Amino acid sequence: KVNGLEFAVADLRLAEAGRHQIRLAEHEMPGLMATRREYADTKPLRGARVAGSLHMTVQTAVLIETLVALGAEVRWVSCNIFSTQDEAAAAVVVGPGGTPEQPKGVPVFAWKGETLEDYWWCTEQLFQFGDNGPNMILDDGGDATLLVHKGVEFEKTGVVPEAGEDDPHEYQVILSTLRASLTADGKRFTRIAEDIKGVTEETTTGVHRLYEFAKTGELLFPAINVNDSVTKSKFDNKYGCRHSLVDGINRATDTLIGGKVALVAGYGDVGKGSAESLRGQGARVIITEVDPICALQAAMDGFQVTTLDDVVETADIFVTTTGNFNIITAEHMAKMKHQAIVGNIGHFDNEIDMAGLEKTPGIKKTEIKPQVHEYTFADGHSIIVLSEGRLLNLGNATGHPSFVMSNSFTNQTMAQIELFTKPGEYEKQVYVLPKHLDEKVARLHLDALGVKLTKLTKEQAAYIGVDVEGPYKPDHYRY
Ligand code: NAI
Repeated sequence: KVNGLEFAVADLRLAEAGRHQIRLAEHEMPGLMATRREYADTKPLRGARVAGSLHMTVQTAVLIETLVALGAEVRWVSCNIFSTQDEAAAAVVVGPGGTPEQPKGVPVFAWKGETLEDYWWCTEQLFQFGDNGPNMILDDGGDATLLVHKGVEFEKTGVVPEAGEDDPHEYQVILSTLRASLTADGKRFTRIAEDIKGVTEETTTGVHRLYEFAKTGELLFPAINVNDSVTKSKFDNKYGCRHSLVDGINRATDTLIGGKVALVAGYGDVGKGSAESLRGQGARVIITEVDPICALQAAMDGFQVTTLDDVVETADIFVTTTGNFNIITAEHMAKMKHQAIVGNIGHFDNEIDMAGLEKTPGIKKTEIKPQVHEYTFADGHSIIVLSEGRLLNLGNATGHPSFVMSNSFTNQTMAQIELFTKPGEYEKQVYVLPKHLDEKVARLHLDALGVKLTKLTKEQAAYIGVDVEGPYKPDHYRY
């Protein structure tokens, strides 16, 4: 704690470097900056206490400072142990008017290279706004939301169970974090959940968790699925990954991608951007899919579609994008070519069976540099694993660039305003933002790219049955 401000970041002296990057990012984030101007006087988030769990990058810094400009009190953590940009974290703590000696910004608990114990300790810090808890959550992947739901579940039964022998290590860490943080009266998370007006969720994996909670009636507060705004998933997941996937592979390995065979598992939004990214570098890209529609799309886009088993011994680069688990098993990795590159750009590290790889008899792990490891098998051949199986675009590079994140984060900000200012209008269900707001987000990003829109005439609008000012498509339209 310095100057009354709590935080846990790598080094506050990095703040100046972070602030320069934030300044440049602001210019590339017209949606967020327009939102700041629009709400400068009304400050719709005044009274909001936002617990944010989302990769602590330069772009996220601009989001955090937007929420603050709109009146919110904010605490922040990263939603991944490797994704923090330490200079961005430092700059957010120091704040625009502060110094490392006199920080005046926002409490951030995040650094690059946390352990899982650190990670859940940080996440727990989100829930300590003085004597209060938060009244809003902004989540990416659902870990902050999960902690509240688990806390409430255990408070109902009065005990935090012991983890079973087969439970993953991370679950054991969650349980011990909760054991240490439940209050004597056994009502801490119950009170927090009652105060929370809602959660806005950033990504496919977190949204999946929310729909599961809603289906079983366990969802404790209303939720907005930001991921499925068109201006989020059809932009960030696709064009963001098109940029940051090869960025991560290049920074990690500096291996020429052109001419290589790259396998992309999954052809959803992230898979489409990833495949294009690798093809753009001249790789021959092969897709695996379970969904016949996505498989057909991949084929029509000119990619070979086959199974992993078919090409595991011949491909040079493997990237998982499914949001599913156990896509690349330890047995697969043992069969790969010498120095094949293996990485994941989905949300969690279980797409690649890292635990199984570590247990392979005779395996040797060599750190080439942080977040790049060579695993050598007993027969002498090796593979290169990026970010220990966690999302490589944030672990090995700096994630998506500002312009695309401006779209995602303008949706986030609008979703926070919706849930915070209209609590009576939302049930404990999962909602998406209305289409007119989705179109507004897109509109805010056109000028910067010199886009000139054609205007519908009144007659044309009547002919296709829409309003001259939009929305221009029915809700079921797929883009
Ligand atoms: P999506 O649902 O559009 O695509 C996933 C695809 O994987 C689907 O088409 C599905 O049929 C396919 N799939 C599932 N199991 C498979 C299997 N066993 N083999 C082959 N394909 C399989 O989801 P989206 O939006 O593309 O997100 C994917 C993951 O990436 C999620 O975990 C999401 O949270 C994460 N994400 C990561 C980002 C990053 O910056 N690293 C950005 C956005 C999303």
